[in-house]
Amino acid sequence: MNVLLLGSGGREHALAWKISQSPLLNKLFIAPGNAGTAFVGANVELNPLVFETVGHFALQQNIDLVIVGPEDPLVLGIVDYFEATAEIAHIPVIGPTKAGAMLEGSKDFSKIFMQKYQIPTAAYQTFSKGEEENADKFINKLPPPYVLKADGLAAGKGVLILDDKKLAKSALREMLDGKFGLAGNKVVIEEFLLGMEVSVFVLTDGKNYILLPEAKDYKRIGEFDTGLNTGGMGAVSPVPFMTPELMVKIERKIIRPTIEGLQAEGIKYKGFIFFGLMINDGEPNVIEYNCRMGDPETEVVMPRLENDLLELFMATSKNELGRHVAHIDSDTATTVMVVSGGYPEKYRKNIEISGLNEDMEGLVFHAGTRRHEESDAILTNGGRVLAFTGIGENLKDALKMSYNDIKKICFDGMYFRKDIGEDLM
Ligand code: AMP
Ligand code: GLY
Repeated sequence: MNVLLLGSGGREHALAWKISQSPLLNKLFIAPGNAGTAFVGANVELNPLVFETVGHFALQQNIDLVIVGPEDPLVLGIVDYFEATAEIAHIPVIGPTKAGAMLEGSKDFSKIFMQKYQIPTAAYQTFSKGEEENADKFINKLPPPYVLKADGLAAGKGVLILDDKKLAKSALREMLDGKFGLAGNKVVIEEFLLGMEVSVFVLTDGKNYILLPEAKDYKRIGEFDTGLNTGGMGAVSPVPFMTPELMVKIERKIIRPTIEGLQAEGIKYKGFIFFGLMINDGEPNVIEYNCRMGDPETEVVMPRLENDLLELFMATSKNELGRHVAHIDSDTATTVMVVSGGYPEKYRKNIEISGLNEDMEGLVFHAGTRRHEESDAILTNGGRVLAFTGIGENLKDALKMSYNDIKKICFDGMYFRKDIGEDLM
């Protein structure tokens, strides 16, 4: 099979690494990829958001399967584009249709959906411009802290959690006045949920699903969960507090009603669903849906999945996922993200990275890197630069591997959290 994977982050390197192990694979292309994906496939200079050129390339290269890593092409309707374009309509794409991607693309849509299908989530109301006074009344009724979410995609920055009522009311106005662009045309205000966060993932063909290993993500830039939110500074899988009983409850109360709800709505969904959950007193609530895998969660999920990923994707495209179960390695995987100084605010790019040729004990997934056009050097090309995945019989051993490998590399201004997984030990 010839496979085209869209995206360029650590998630895509981990997916490409896993796909490259499949006996079904002939050629793997990654568009646009990074310096790491070039080790396991061929990078192609294509913008995943320009569907026409993606379609042309897929046709030219006899692509048998397209896999969409990030959310933007899905929310913009790449799956619908392939289906509606005669020459490429036969090429299966892993990812939901535009309607399915709304689970992530619109917080308001996802809240309405959860309410309709009785999926546990925080109480909420949605407000548009002109409804500020009603929003104030709703805020007055809620206990602090106040959770404000821009309705649309806002690159992970659209959620504000504020302790002060006055600040919440002024932030709401800023959002409705365009602080997050069109994404803030509507604002969801919701109840603050206490508890422990965990990410659960399934791959679904729209009817059947397989449950992937769960993970815990470390979102804040600073140690012990301080400072600004990031795309994710590290992840751990499995998550010790996730008991089999809890997982059964999550399947019954959340996963199955979600997939049945999508079916009832007539929404075609072949791809990953990422459930961002808050667990309080053994009861799960949905914080958010994503229509893709997580990053850096993929960097700990893929190393634990023993199945042939391409086989699972093919079964997804043929509605045959019911014949498969996930085989999961019982080992622990950890990943620690090394970022460029200043991230998630202003940071430099094009800094040379040394030490990547050293023998690594674990896996190194590139998140934001590129190869220098002339010299062979690998340069930073983003805020999140490299994810170091360690694997071991327990959390301690896995973390040791991640942190030992980090010691082997160096670049100017590099930063990473030294406390990943500590709260779980
Ligand atoms: P999101 O972009 O929806 O993932 O939100 C970012 C982060 O904000 C989540 O990972 C949570 O840590 C936090 N968060 C979002 N909604 C809530 C909520 N209702 N209660 C508590 N924390 C929340
Ligand atoms: N790490 C969180 C996400 O991928 O959304």
